[in-house]
Amino acid sequence: MNNGLDDVIATETVMSDVDGLAGRLVIRGHSLDDLAGHVGYEELVGILLDGFFEDLPGPKELAPRLGMARREVFEMLVSEGLPGANLPATEALRAAMARLADGEDLALALRLIAAPAVLTPAIIRQRRGEAAVAPDPKAGHAADMLRMLHGAVPRLEAAAALDTYLVTVSDHGLNASTFTARVVASTQAGLTSAVLAALSALKGPLHGGAPGPVLDMLDGIAAAQTAEAWLEAALDRGDRLMGFGHRVYRVRDPRAEALKRAVTALFGPGRNDTGRLALAEHVEAAATSILARRKPDGSLQINVEFYTALLLEALGFPRESFTSVFAAGRVVGWVGHAREQVLYGRLIRPQSRYVGPRPDQAA
Ligand code: ACO
Repeated sequence: MNNGLDDVIATETVMSDVDGLAGRLVIRGHSLDDLAGHVGYEELVGILLDGFFEDLPGPKELAPRLGMARREVFEMLVSEGLPGANLPATEALRAAMARLADGEDLALALRLIAAPAVLTPAIIRQRRGEAAVAPDPKAGHAADMLRMLHGAVPRLEAAAALDTYLVTVSDHGLNASTFTARVVASTQAGLTSAVLAALSALKGPLHGGAPGPVLDMLDGIAAAQTAEAWLEAALDRGDRLMGFGHRVYRVRDPRAEALKRAVTALFGPGRNDTGRLALAEHVEAAATSILARRKPDGSLQINVEFYTALLLEALGFPRESFTSVFAAGRVVGWVGHAREQVLYGRLIRPQSRYVGPRPDQAA
């Protein structure tokens, strides 16, 4: 039996549409190419939540409201002391966010959206023994996240690259974490519960946990001339190549292209060493052709995680925090889907087919 629900349509949504055959992603009526690199995360929050809260402010007011939410999160969840110092980073994020009380209102929604952006830098700095940096409510969301990480106003191209990333991963059909959010929302448990459950689904290596291992792969390969042999040996062992393959896309993941454009701006003189980018491009080409030989339908191509890994590394995020940064982008999708489910959906309660023994068959 296929337990992956591959072709099951489980809901209707206005949030996003993933066309896996054409390699196209539509987010609330806009093609990804028209959003990534053109629209800031704050604006996208307004686009994705449109119609889901009666008191949602217009675009001009939304940015300061999100800035205020970052400050509230810092005061509520960071100043009081972060929990989970000895947990993996994503679990520490989950533990910190779990202190937000449940509800369905806009103020909570904005705090949930702000929380991973504020908590991720604070958790990273705590692990380095550095004091947390308070948010600047007037800064752009992505720029502020980098400022809280490094303690200095980021370069324009760095803030723009993170903004592109957060927008690119903001929503993506009924992926595992979003489905999880909708199931929990359908019980009317509240937005915090929906987001925490989604975050728990995201952290698995088959979903949002892959970009860290992409860097482990690049480190293992180390040099372009050993790439082919390394990749063949990994596949012969039965390993999966992280950052490749997707349940829905049969062609190249369109998000990979958007991220590749954004990441290129971070490499060059005075910025990151171009050697890393060149190695990644070589590995992408080598792995694509090896995978195509092994699976000739061409469906095993890079997914969003491959250039995510390079982009977040170039921005100075440690690899154990990558899933949390992913959550900082995807959280608005979870909140939008959860609200759509509450407003227009019903309790999600599918059926299973029992294949165990019946009492009358027991020995
Ligand atoms: N490397 C090597 N082979 C692969 C890979 C890979 N990355 N992905 C799939 N395959 C092979 C499988 O071994 C299988 O081969 P077979 O038919 O000979 O048995 C075939 O392709 C189909 O694989 P499934 O597991 O059925 O594909 P599924 O749709 O369940 O998996 C997934 C999708 C989980 C993303 C998979 O491609 C994978 O494990 N990729 C690596 C992890 C990764 O990059 N995750 C991030 C995904 S993007 C995201 O969630 C944000």
